Amino acid sequence: MDHLKELIKLAEKDFEGCKTLTELDNAKSKYIGKTGPLTEAMRGLSKLSNEEKPKLGALINDIKKSIEELLNARKDAIQKKEMLSQLENEYIDVTLPGLKQSEGSLHPISLTMNRIEHIFHSIGFDMATGPEIEDDYHNFTALNIPESHPARAMHDTFYINKNHVLRTHTSPVQVRYMKDNEPPLKVISPGRVYRVDSDATHSPMFHQMEGLWVDKKVNFANLKGVVQDFLQKFFEDNKLTIRFRPSFFPFTEPSAEIDMSWNGGWLEIGGCGMVHPKVLNQVNINTDEFQGFAFGLGVERLTMLKYHIDDLRPFFTNDLRFLKQFGDQ
Ligand code: FA5
Repeated sequence: MDHLKELIKLAEKDFEGCKTLTELDNAKSKYIGKTGPLTEAMRGLSKLSNEEKPKLGALINDIKKSIEELLNARKDAIQKKEMLSQLENEYIDVTLPGLKQSEGSLHPISLTMNRIEHIFHSIGFDMATGPEIEDDYHNFTALNIPESHPARAMHDTFYINKNHVLRTHTSPVQVRYMKDNEPPLKVISPGRVYRVDSDATHSPMFHQMEGLWVDKKVNFANLKGVVQDFLQKFFEDNKLTIRFRPSFFPFTEPSAEIDMSWNGGWLEIGGCGMVHPKVLNQVNINTDEFQGFAFGLGVERLTMLKYHIDDLRPFFTNDLRFLKQFGDQ
């Protein structure tokens, strides 16, 4: 019996020394586990006389109860300590200002495209898009570009297969749109185009903005008026002027390069002209009744001028330090 009573003191000391719940669990099995001294003593009861049995039985139960109480008390203490240290370590100061999420911004080319679309929309132009993988017919043949034209060569154009190319300009959308819609037509078509071309001002993938106006009386002067009006709005400069430099495109006649006044000189920003009758014939528009003009502007070129950038390659290298400077405007 004395030996059993001694267990309470031993357990108390043992439990006190436990720092974690796992340690406490291990210590517990030394006293009240299946192979512990109390279970052992219980088994031994059968060997005792009927008088001794209840006395020792009651004592064992009392000791077990006391050890369990010690165990629970120690368990509470350990848990409380763990909680306090957790609270201390994971303390959040809710009065501190929050961490700022860095916000993304629109790409400068997207900003320019949005701006262009907005201006043309305000002067009554609809919008159309076309496929970037274009067939030979829409990219070249329907636009009166002959088999022998240099633009058809492999060193200028990315071929997907014999009859399909990555479109080299947005002009094929003119053909698609005129085929699907009855004149009068007034539409712009922005999008990606591709050419085998790469230096500081030429990229293999770039963006163009096509414009097309087909009606009974539209003429070359209207073309100049629309382009100049657009550029004045785009650059917020009503003194900006343009000049047309005679040029050649197989799908327009007459054709011109569009130059705009810039820093005392002139800068080319696109091509234009009156839609060639052969193109109108392809899409069954009566050339006795209708005529039209078209223009194609380089979107990267407009963006470079707007933001004073002299190299277009940073537009496509995804350097956030460059891109973040533009923000939403
Ligand atoms: C054309 O692509 C004609 N389709 C434009 C046109 C449309 C003429 C309708 C008449 C009627 P051009 O090849 O000149 O034309 O290209 C137009 C503009 O795209 C150029 O002035 C230039 O600003 C831009 N551009 C051309 N090549 C590249 C390139 N590799 N990288 C960036 N911009 C380019």
